Amino acid sequence: MRININTIKEMKPKGQKVVMLTAYDYSTARIVDEANIPLILVGDSLGMVMLGYESTIPVTMEEMLHHTRAVVRGSGKALVVGDMPFMSYQVCQDEDLRNAARFIQEAGAQAVKLEGGVNIASTIERIVGAGIPVMGHIGLTPQYVNQLGGYKIQGKTREAATRLFNDAMAVEQAGAFAVVLETVPAPLAGFISRRLTIPTIGIGAGTGCDGQVQVINDLLGSFSDFVPRHAKRYVNISEITSQAVSQYRDDVASGVFPGHEQEFGMDEEIFNQFVKDIQ
Ligand code: KIV
Repeated sequence: MRININTIKEMKPKGQKVVMLTAYDYSTARIVDEANIPLILVGDSLGMVMLGYESTIPVTMEEMLHHTRAVVRGSGKALVVGDMPFMSYQVCQDEDLRNAARFIQEAGAQAVKLEGGVNIASTIERIVGAGIPVMGHIGLTPQYVNQLGGYKIQGKTREAATRLFNDAMAVEQAGAFAVVLETVPAPLAGFISRRLTIPTIGIGAGTGCDGQVQVINDLLGSFSDFVPRHAKRYVNISEITSQAVSQYRDDVASGVFPGHEQEFGMDEEIFNQFVKDIQ
C-alpha cells in the first residue's frame, strides 16, 4: 500500500517532518523507497541532471512521463509526485487537466506538482476538482527563470514577501495538499509554514518548514555542473564512479579483467568435437 496525501497532511499537526527526495529512474527509486522516504518527486530538474539541458524549460511531457513510469515501477510504498513541465498547464484548461491526468493514468503517479501561486490557483482548483492531488511550488520557480531574471532568492523585499505569502494562501485555498517553498528567506518560510495548515516542504527555505526536499544528485554528488548552497553532499559519487571507471579501463587494458571467475565454461568433449568439425 502506498502512502496517500492524508498521511502526508496528518504529519504536520503531529510535528513530524515530511521528507521528500527526487528520483528519476527505477534503480534509484528502489533505494529511496526502501529507505522509507514517503514522498518521491520526479522533478523536472531531470532536464538538467539526467538529460543535460541548461534549465528545466525544454523538458517535455513525454520525457516526464517516461521517467515517472520508471520511478513508479521502482517504488511500492512512497507517494510519487510527477512534476508538470513548462507549458503543460499554462496553455489552456483542457490541456492542463489532460496532462495532469496523463501523470496519473499513464505513468502511475499519485499526484502532480505545479509551479506558481495566485496566477495558477484556478488551475490547481480544477485539477484537484478532477480528483488529482496537487502539490504547489512557490518562491524560486525555475520554470519562470526568464521572468525572474535568474535563480535568485525570492521574497526579500516587503512587497515580494507579501506576494509570496499571498501565493502560499492561494495555493492552499485552491486545494493543494502540500507546497514546496524554494529559495525563500528562512524567517519568511517559517512564518508561511505557521500560517498554512498544509505542510510546507522547503528547499533552501530554512529550518522552519514542515519538511524538506532535495535533488538526489546534489546529495550524492553525482551532478557537478553546480552545487546549490542549500544542498548538503552526503557522498561524492562522481569521484567514486570516476575511480571505478578508471580502474576498469586499466584492468581491461592490462588483462586483469575479466578473470576466470567471470568466464563461462563448456563441456570439454563438446568443445573438442566442435573444433574437429570445423577443421
Ligand atoms: O524539479 C525539481 O526537482 C523540483 C524540486 C527542486 C523541488 O522542483
